[in-house]
Amino acid sequence: MSVEIEISFVKSAKVSGGLAVALGAQGEPVSAAARTVDPAGVLDKAVTVTGFSGKAYTVADIVAPKDSPADRIGLVGTGETKSLSSHGWMRVGGKIFTLIRKADKVAILLGEGELPTAEQAADIALGLLMRSYEFDLYKTAKPDDEDNGGGNRKVKVTFVHPDAAGCKKAFADREAVAAGVTLARNLVNEPANVLGPLEFAARVKELEALGVEVEILTEKDMKKLKMEALLGVGLGSVRPPRLAIMQWKGGKPKDKPVAFVGKGVVFDTGGISIKPAANMEDMKGDMGGAAAVTGLMRVLAGRKAKVNAVGVIGLVENMPDGAAQRPGDIVRSMSGQTIEIINTDAEGRLVLADALWYTRERFAPVAMVNLATLTGAIMVALGHHHAGLFSNDDALADALLSAGVATEERLWRMPLGPDYDKIIDSKFADMKNSGGRMAGSITAAQFLKRFVKDTPWAHLDIAGTAMGSPSTDVNQSWGSGFGVRLLDRYVRDRFEA
Ligand code: BES
Ligand code: MN
Ligand code: ZN
Repeated sequence: MSVEIEISFVKSAKVSGGLAVALGAQGEPVSAAARTVDPAGVLDKAVTVTGFSGKAYTVADIVAPKDSPADRIGLVGTGETKSLSSHGWMRVGGKIFTLIRKADKVAILLGEGELPTAEQAADIALGLLMRSYEFDLYKTAKPDDEDNGGGNRKVKVTFVHPDAAGCKKAFADREAVAAGVTLARNLVNEPANVLGPLEFAARVKELEALGVEVEILTEKDMKKLKMEALLGVGLGSVRPPRLAIMQWKGGKPKDKPVAFVGKGVVFDTGGISIKPAANMEDMKGDMGGAAAVTGLMRVLAGRKAKVNAVGVIGLVENMPDGAAQRPGDIVRSMSGQTIEIINTDAEGRLVLADALWYTRERFAPVAMVNLATLTGAIMVALGHHHAGLFSNDDALADALLSAGVATEERLWRMPLGPDYDKIIDSKFADMKNSGGRMAGSITAAQFLKRFVKDTPWAHLDIAGTAMGSPSTDVNQSWGSGFGVRLLDRYVRDRFEA
């Protein structure tokens, strides 16, 4: 059952029933705020009995005594409060959500001391929202079975904070972030029978309502542009490919945009070089890069970001078929460079080759960041806890790395170089689309690099982080929405600070 959260901020509130939540710091696990719902003073004993010390991200769930205005009192540890980062406050929000499950009315009592500030309170609310996300669209409602599709339950969550107006203002931006992350997660979680290239394009179109300019290129348009690399990937599918272009113009008209490019393979069977059956169902998430770009554009428009940003996503399905492309085929990309197809399962780079070139040619962006669930090899290298970062520009790489640290959507920089580039030279064409198993993520990045010329560019290989990564305090969903908060942070720091 999913829980729909309705958040509000008030200066003061009289608690009457429901769950009251207070923060507890290490050394002072029972705060002044907590004492306001504990007239008889039972909480000191309760924290001793439950072992709640105020250690960061721990919780205590306590039945309120008879004289309390609340039914339940929840305590969430903040450790040494002064040391929590913005993301740390989000984690606190995630922990608060774990207490909310069974309640229908929640008051979060903040700010009896000096922390959290309004900004931090808004971070708590964002973390709570992100943790509450659940994809249960296809679980048939059974009203008598709460844990299996019992339908939506609404919970009113009231934050009590002396600077309620400041909280509300700070939360407006976070609400846009939550909406963008939710959109990205939904897109990744949707099965491929529901979300083909056309359906994905239709969801992108919905961003027009927020002021994003959207163009959808058809197969015919892409043929005219000579995008043979991208089109080749879709030949085996009955569902035609699309290229979606999103523009958010929140900056000065004369400023060149920053561009985000996404791999949107709605399903990757591998094509003729077909994948083994085990876990192939995960390949419905092979559009995680495109989902992150779409989610990011949703955030930028939602919070009216002062930036010119472009999002370009290649939407295509990789299927085996009589009409599918074969190993050994040679295609000419939009750039004019020819590619020998060694393995039809190395399709993401073919999609991105044309999408990157198109973006560069049309928009001449100040920087170009692409996201893609590109290689299994990046998971061998980094597991699920860092995405691979490849870049031809140290300043861009550093900016992304620090955005990763701030948002805990972490990146690890990987090498590029001529020795790796050589590996993808082809006997018959300008390059081949696979360099084999060794350094698989790096040779994939070298391939992309051949389509960006001198544009400052970064490639994020998110195969290990966009889907199926372990749950965290702010995400319990298979599709994580990885990249949305990271790039929103990058845009804020680099273009709006
Ligand atoms: N979409 C896959 C990469 C992937 C694998 C993403 C597992 C998420 C989970 C990609 O298109 C692919 O198949 N890559 C091949 C490249 C190889 C054929 C050169 C790979 O990584 O094995
Ligand atoms: Mn593939
Ligand atoms: Zn793929």
